[in-house]
Amino acid sequence: MKILAQQGDLAQWEADAIIVTIVEGTKPLTGAALSVDKALKGMISQELQAAHPRFKGKLADTLVLPTYGKLPAAYVILVGLGKPEEIKGQSLRRASAAAIRAAKKLKVKSVATALAELNQKAIKPFDTDTIGRLLAEGAVLGSYQFTLRKGKKAKADNGTGDSSTPLSSLTVVLPSTTEKGKAKEKDTGKGQLAALKKAVRVGQVIAESVNTARDWVNDSANYVTPTFLKEQAEAIPGLTCKVLTQAQIKKLGMGSFALVAQGSEQPAFLIHLSYKPKGKAQKKVALIGKGITFDSGGLSLKPAGSMETMKMDMGGAAAVLATMKAIAELQDLSVQVDCFVPTCENMPSGRSSKPGDIVTAMNGKTIEVNNTDAEGRLILCDAMTYAQKEVNPDEMIDLATLTGACVVALGKAAAGIMGTSDDLIDRVRKAGEAGGEKLWPLPLYDEYKSYLKSDVADLINAGAKGEAGSSAAGMFLKEFVDKNLAWAHLDIAGPAWVSSDSPEIPKGGTGFGVRTLLYYLYQLQE
Ligand code: BES
Ligand code: ZN
Ligand code: ZN
Repeated sequence: MKILAQQGDLAQWEADAIIVTIVEGTKPLTGAALSVDKALKGMISQELQAAHPRFKGKLADTLVLPTYGKLPAAYVILVGLGKPEEIKGQSLRRASAAAIRAAKKLKVKSVATALAELNQKAIKPFDTDTIGRLLAEGAVLGSYQFTLRKGKKAKADNGTGDSSTPLSSLTVVLPSTTEKGKAKEKDTGKGQLAALKKAVRVGQVIAESVNTARDWVNDSANYVTPTFLKEQAEAIPGLTCKVLTQAQIKKLGMGSFALVAQGSEQPAFLIHLSYKPKGKAQKKVALIGKGITFDSGGLSLKPAGSMETMKMDMGGAAAVLATMKAIAELQDLSVQVDCFVPTCENMPSGRSSKPGDIVTAMNGKTIEVNNTDAEGRLILCDAMTYAQKEVNPDEMIDLATLTGACVVALGKAAAGIMGTSDDLIDRVRKAGEAGGEKLWPLPLYDEYKSYLKSDVADLINAGAKGEAGSSAAGMFLKEFVDKNLAWAHLDIAGPAWVSSDSPEIPKGGTGFGVRTLLYYLYQLQE
């Protein structure tokens, strides 16, 4: 979908449908809503004031009004932003996604929307660019469908060639008359439009990279193999990519990662993608993503039901790789970012690891593998050691669909976050909030060290039995983090995959983490 920014009057815009945002309970209408209402001879205000209104402006509620020739557009899509005191950036994203879904149902080709009127006293003011970016993000997120494997009609372009809807463009319309109060903005109308165009593009790039991550998670494990992830990483222009083979992984002493990989017919890789800013880097951030392309549990085999969705166990890898793709596309980040993805399958076979196996990780620590299904920490620990050796980062953030316990604790609504720096955790959480993703802190108390005790090795991989499983996994990873390094671990097992639709997140792979990471990295340079 093309997203454009142009200047003009929404009511007179030549599009198949126009989107009008409505703040719940606001009377009288203002701005674009008012001018569309006038052109429709009061249809919108009558609808809102009806004795039993079908539409009140509740967040993400939509109502389609046919215009019967009163406007160039055939339909007006009303979309609610919710109560004024509750409007957040996420409301704009969600409302935009809901409106786009309504437009897709109408099977229209082109839609236009005005910038939401958020300059009233009761509403936290958003600047024009932020509104434009959020509308673009929401529209692209909301229009996502995974159709790649849907028979003949599906195109081989990763789901973008959806033939069931022809929706091809969204225009964000900047009003021609600069409103009062905005006059003090230094830009002229033209400068404002240029800034809006840029903001809309940023929103589109962010959301498209989320959709790319969704495609990778949604596509099945017979296609999305470690080799596939490696090829996707290598295909991103503007970054350097170094890939270690399974033999090199073993040779470098990553005995823990190698143990998980050895049970599969598919070759394993450690992918290292690097982005370097043109000038001097403000900071070096390392990102690590768990890339288990299928988690059967290994010999500690999962029950059939739990295995059904385990193609999603590379959700962390998808998030960090898609983040790198967006950074490469935008080419304006002043932070160095190195992304590491250990990727393999976790399979039972004659060659696979056996419960009780003892291995030596790259940092020299020995691990007793009592449960082959706790494989994520086994591949991440070596990738983290390698990342610290290779780039000596200022900060390290890992994303992993690591524990079922995290899903039990937080459900699908939030990822668990833990680590060695409260400051980093705080900043990542704030970035998540700005991006529309929730992260909830879980502790790494010293008391949990007992879960790591093995009788025969330095560490055991699954020592906690039914207690604080997410923190236990975090404690295990912490054993591989250099002293004084700010590290945050995001357990995304819950929100990486959802089984019900919301306006901006259709069911299936969600691309969780991409927005948090991009907002985080871009906030570092502000
Ligand atoms: N990939 C799973 C975690 C998971 C579970 C992700 C559900 C998404 C949804 C992970 O490798 C795993 O199997 N963890 C075990 C650890 C246990 C054996 C200590 C778990 O959570 O049961
Ligand atoms: Zn597992
Ligand atoms: Zn797993």
